[in-house]
Amino acid sequence: MILINLNGAITDAQDARIPVLDHGFLFGDSVYETLRTYHRKPFLFTRHFARLEHSANAIHLNLPWSRERTFAEVLRTLDATDASELRIRVMATRGPGDLSPDPDSCADPNMIIIVGPVPQIPRQAYERGVNVRISSFYRSVQLAEAKTGNLMRQVLALREAKAAGAFEAILLTPDGQISDGISSNVYLVKNGRLRTPSREAGIVAGITRRVVLELARRAGLEVFEGLLDRREIDSADEMFLTSTTREIVPVATVDGRPVGAGAPGPVTLGLMEAFRREIEVLIQED
Ligand code: PDD
Repeated sequence: MILINLNGAITDAQDARIPVLDHGFLFGDSVYETLRTYHRKPFLFTRHFARLEHSANAIHLNLPWSRERTFAEVLRTLDATDASELRIRVMATRGPGDLSPDPDSCADPNMIIIVGPVPQIPRQAYERGVNVRISSFYRSVQLAEAKTGNLMRQVLALREAKAAGAFEAILLTPDGQISDGISSNVYLVKNGRLRTPSREAGIVAGITRRVVLELARRAGLEVFEGLLDRREIDSADEMFLTSTTREIVPVATVDGRPVGAGAPGPVTLGLMEAFRREIEVLIQED
């Protein structure tokens, strides 16, 4: 069951209504965050809210709720559900305005919290690795760090990836550098070193990414954040993805070609194990 908190009113999904003239609906003029619970507690809420503020600042949107109010509303919405673990989407739209995209015509942003089950990923994905596809859609570096509702390329990239039987699409920059997935960050392992695209490649700075890079450094792995040419995939030993809802997912093939041995490698498996343990530590953080 999906519950929606719209400006403080909690209803079933089908009863939540947004005006058609909301610029979030008309132009994707909105920002959002996806977080999840572990043990029914929101995981790393403060880090997610900071990124929501960063996204809102990037599009000059004043969030109507403070961190404290948002946290309280998230808890109230979670309390209204009885599912075990939940995915939580927090979003703010520009609000109703003119038919022109002029944000000055919008006076009242809408604050929305959507709570539903965490999407289940088959165990096989973690045990054998997934197939991914390099998208024909490029990642625009401009505004990439802001998580906005304007996701047409990702919509079409996902459609294309699904048609090819892939789990995720990897988007490249127009220069052919690896950026990120539709909703995940990307990593390569080469000679025991971890390599991942930096912000210059137009990525979303993943909350999971930060945790994983910290765990990798703690384990003594050399970490490189920079621009990675797509051809690096051909000679990589391992590859994996990370995101809030999926954690760490090994990649077996890219466009049908195996990465390394075509199965989860030791570095990926070690980080998956370390991440599971770290959840129990980080769940203490607000
Ligand atoms: N996706 N890259 C993109 C483009 C993303 O949209 C996301 C998040 C990530 C991973 O970030 P994090 O580790 O903070 O989840 C990387 C969320 C899950 C979403 O779109 O719902």
